[in-house]
Amino acid sequence: MNAAISVVPVVGIGADGWDGLPETSRRVLRTAQVLIGAPRQLDLLPAGDCPGERITWPTPLRPAVPGLLAAHQDRTIAVLASGDPSFYGIARTLAETVGAQRLRVLPHPSSVSYACARLGWPLEAVETVSLVARPLAALAAALHDGRRLLVLGEGPGTPADVAAYLRATGWGGTRVRVLEQLGGPRERLLDATAADWPHERTDALHVLALDCVRDPDTLRLGAVPGLPDEAYEHDGQLTKRYVRAATLAALAPAPGELLWDIGGGSGSIGVEWMRTHRSCRAIAVEKSPERAARITRNADALGVPALQVVTAAAPDGLAALPTPDAVFIGGGLTVPGLLDACWDALPAGGRLVANTVTLESEALLADRYRRHGGELVRLAVATAVPVGGFTGWRQAMPVTQWSVTKEEEA
Ligand SMILES: C[S@@+](CC[C@H](N)C(=O)[O-])C[C@H]1O[C@@H](n2cnc3c(N)ncnc32)[C@H](O)[C@@H]1O
Repeated sequence: MNAAISVVPVVGIGADGWDGLPETSRRVLRTAQVLIGAPRQLDLLPAGDCPGERITWPTPLRPAVPGLLAAHQDRTIAVLASGDPSFYGIARTLAETVGAQRLRVLPHPSSVSYACARLGWPLEAVETVSLVARPLAALAAALHDGRRLLVLGEGPGTPADVAAYLRATGWGGTRVRVLEQLGGPRERLLDATAADWPHERTDALHVLALDCVRDPDTLRLGAVPGLPDEAYEHDGQLTKRYVRAATLAALAPAPGELLWDIGGGSGSIGVEWMRTHRSCRAIAVEKSPERAARITRNADALGVPALQVVTAAAPDGLAALPTPDAVFIGGGLTVPGLLDACWDALPAGGRLVANTVTLESEALLADRYRRHGGELVRLAVATAVPVGGFTGWRQAMPVTQWSVTKEEEA
């Protein structure tokens, strides 16, 4: 960082433009010699009040930021942002590229603050999903019956797309409200259910508010691991519900962590890892291209479209992956070098969990258990089924599970 570069004010501005700005923000904008922002934001500033040179952000933005600020370091700069610059805004990019200590953020109410004000919703009780540069499938993990959701739209077609997505996925009764141009003179509210949403296009500046209503025949999905097996498209290669719940408990995901799901099968372990927190990431490695495609479909259907799928026969392809916080091995345990490659990739404190139903793989796990410790458990699940006119237990193949936390090298 160049110590000579001064602090840059980042000024939030709303749909009410100059009129809605507090005096502190106005003073910054009046005196700035260089004003940087999107054309729409710059157009909100009266030329007479704000004589500074106006510069629009280049695309792509991120790599250009340090150079742009450095190019004007001898003049006073102000950056314009919409609403609260720290909420899905430019302040994040600026902090990540030039450092948070370089910024003085002057927030305006965010679009979600306005939306909650209009709806009478408590902001802290509402989840927000951004569909800006994210697929619609990101919505699926946030849909729960009776839940209120705010959705940040990508453009004029987003509300119609969201309504169509809700209809197609069994949430047609959901009430959809679109709040356009919040805080500005052209503010408008549109209100209908997803099932009969009539507006093909809306104003580009909007927030969607959803009151989620699940259709009666739509599968109910809870918030914790151990989703019903029917939630997945699969060909039998699926870690079944109760073993899956125990496996996720052993993997113990924490926010922000990265999982390698080796032998992804249908993808259930990576999917449920990512569903525990929106900042969790997972990479599934699967040798069968058909199954790899299925993992992507399951990830989309269950609301974690960012799950990355690598079609490769591990340990091939592992060396190129980012360092994991945890590794799950659900397939390929007997492939020479696979267990070692996973173990070597783990940093100290990382967790490894491996499941198997075969004696050959179990022998490998028993050997590792002797060498590295951890826990070796046997999970045997039986399900009650009809037997004649009575009920009896159907025993699934027992699963041997080794889980271990890697310690610092002595
Ligand atoms: C029992 S399934 C895993 C089930 C998975 N956890 C789930 O819930 O869907 C094992 C998978 O490992 C895959 N596999 C086996 N050896 C592999 C290897 N060396 N690299 C990548 N995938 C492998 C198989 O194709 C199969 O899909």
